[in-house]
Amino acid sequence: MPGDALSQDPAELRRRIDSSKAHPARVYDVFLGGKDHYPADLDAAAAGLAANPRGYLDVRHNRDFLRRAVTTLAGEDGIRQFLDIGTGLPTAENVHQIAQRIAPDSRVVYVDNDPVVLAHARALLTSGPEGRTDYIDADLKQPARILEQAAEVIDFDRPVALCLVAILHFVEDDQAYPIVRELVDALPAGSRLVLSHLTDDLNPENVRAVQRTYTERGFTFVLRSRDDVERFFTESGLKLADPGIVPVHHWRPDHAAPVPDQPEESYLAALDDIEKVRYKDINDVTDADINVYGGLGTKA
Ligand SMILES: C[S@@+](CC[C@H](N)C(=O)[O-])C[C@H]1O[C@@H](n2cnc3c(N)ncnc32)[C@H](O)[C@@H]1O
Repeated sequence: MPGDALSQDPAELRRRIDSSKAHPARVYDVFLGGKDHYPADLDAAAAGLAANPRGYLDVRHNRDFLRRAVTTLAGEDGIRQFLDIGTGLPTAENVHQIAQRIAPDSRVVYVDNDPVVLAHARALLTSGPEGRTDYIDADLKQPARILEQAAEVIDFDRPVALCLVAILHFVEDDQAYPIVRELVDALPAGSRLVLSHLTDDLNPENVRAVQRTYTERGFTFVLRSRDDVERFFTESGLKLADPGIVPVHHWRPDHAAPVPDQPEESYLAALDDIEKVRYKDINDVTDADINVYGGLGTKA
């Protein structure tokens, strides 16, 4: 049944949540200015920011790449089905809100393995009446299970946009490439892959310092080159759409990222660096700031 994941026993859910350790979804939430994280996540985000003081731009521009990619897919490309694996905590805005504003009949299946994301997943299931959303509590490393459950909402005879945005750097090579192939193999012609990925091509010193802070905290953190990222497309038989694989802020920029309301100067001055991140305008960006590649490919 769609939404089944949400019926999980609250005691079991609490047991799965380890708030003593930082977790990618929650550290990411810190950088997006959310509130669904614990002190360990704030501590990890602060260490990451100390290693790369403008690193919040990677996160915020990655999220803006996702907004533009979904806008392109639902608009120009006419895609009506989205499988978003590594969804992250609900934020403004989620994939279904972006897609359904353009095409109200869009269907979106979200997948994540973080129990905190599961605990907040109800906010992802706010589909308009013409479309549909579902949430699957699963690991990317279980592609067959994801495909089977997603088939309750997604028609795999019609094109699907598979979104693997800022997730594959948490998966080692021996699993990452075969998983992407297996997922893409299950999609019909005309389907798309949207992918973004951290890299050490662009600003190696800072991003490797960030990598150290997160691996010390137990994250798998694989930085991949542009060629490595391209392999996810070519090895799965996908043709890259323009402009190919580029730093995310150069992927079809529309300069429409929301600019946060600014608080009083005195309030802002009293905040620490991590708290200030939520008020930053991401239009203040240079090529030296971004360490994330993004791309979109089509299955022939
Ligand atoms: C950095 S966030 C990206 C969120 C969103 N895709 C975006 O780009 O804005 C990565 C997300 O992937 C999830 N994730 C990491 N490894 C995963 C795995 N093996 N299976 C499922 N989800 C995973 C995390 O829980 C987190 O929510």
